[in-house]
Amino acid sequence: MTTVQTLSGLAQSGALKGKRVFIRSDLNVPLEQGRITEDTRIRASVPAIRMALEAGASVMVTSHLGRPKEGTVGPDDTLRPVAERLAELLGRPVRLVADWVGGVDLAPGEVVLLENCRCNPGEKKNDPELARRMAALCDVYVNDAFGTAHRAEATTEGIARYAPVACAGPLLEAELTALGRALQSPRRPMVAIVAGSKVSTKLSILQSLAEKVDQLIVGGGIANTFMLAAGLPIGKSLAEPDQVDQAKAVMDAMRARGVEVPIPVDVVVAPAFAADAPATVKDAADVGPDDLILDIGPRTAAALAGQLRKAGTIVWNGPVGVFEFEAFAGGTRAIAQAIAESDGFSIAGGGDTLAAIAKFGIADRVGYISTGGGAFLEFLEGKALPAVAALQARAT
Ligand code: 3PG
Repeated sequence: MTTVQTLSGLAQSGALKGKRVFIRSDLNVPLEQGRITEDTRIRASVPAIRMALEAGASVMVTSHLGRPKEGTVGPDDTLRPVAERLAELLGRPVRLVADWVGGVDLAPGEVVLLENCRCNPGEKKNDPELARRMAALCDVYVNDAFGTAHRAEATTEGIARYAPVACAGPLLEAELTALGRALQSPRRPMVAIVAGSKVSTKLSILQSLAEKVDQLIVGGGIANTFMLAAGLPIGKSLAEPDQVDQAKAVMDAMRARGVEVPIPVDVVVAPAFAADAPATVKDAADVGPDDLILDIGPRTAAALAGQLRKAGTIVWNGPVGVFEFEAFAGGTRAIAQAIAESDGFSIAGGGDTLAAIAKFGIADRVGYISTGGGAFLEFLEGKALPAVAALQARAT
């Protein structure tokens, strides 16, 4: 991080006084019926905003929320609940601004939240025209969104090319430093748990992770794809059937190193995705055509927990079941407890993982908690993060 400009450096030099600062944060928090269920990412984003305000700037903050369709802001896409929480944390009003790409009225010293940036057409494709228009809104662009640093999108990468000044915020700086230190020479065996519902993006990461870690545990929709690859039935469960070959390649890569990717031996199934759906434990081979796998079963959980207790380093990204519903929380609870009890150094990250850590009350027994999910997996792979690379390019 020595090669990028930083917000703290600019603040200390007095360069932010009277300036318009655009902060890209990662405020992508889990919501249930419009209520924030876990706010770590919002709290972690506050220091950058305070730093800019205290240095005399007016501040625009934006973030994506979920993976919305571009062109409209649906009821589930709005950052309104985030604006309200941010206002509470900052102790001052935070105005939510819709339709902001063409211009933002900003009073001196004011802080506003710009509506879900992923609803703007061109954001995901990193459209240079959109990036230029957004860059024109500010004097200083700050990337403080470690959780989205692996995405080359208009607010994370493109804008950094065109803004008059582009720098890293304190959260981005701190994450890169802490993760770099933790992963430099990890204690072995190193076990990675990669789970959750973002199957397609994470499966591609597994192949290179298979070369770095000593054991790989898969869960959630990813495990279902591995079950398919192992010839097991998964009924109507979430999976990525066209990525079965990729799953097989990961299994082969680990086998070549003398270990197996553990495939669930039992699972918890339900006829529907609902909190009150009846939960049934079944052997993995007995999953019926109408079943939805919503958690790993108790025998699988116990075996994985045993493996985790012996680990030197644990990297955890993604819950192994739908832990938000009590009937399907057992697997993730067992994993969380095993991590908490392990003598190994644990690193956990990702939106749903943060929510699971909070739910099971293990935050103080996790070695390092990152706001990044996919971003920290890609960092672990040793990949350059596009958002960081863009800042580095501006600094040279
Ligand atoms: C995350 O939740 O990991 C980040 O906010 C990135 O979200 P994305 O995977 O939808 O880009």
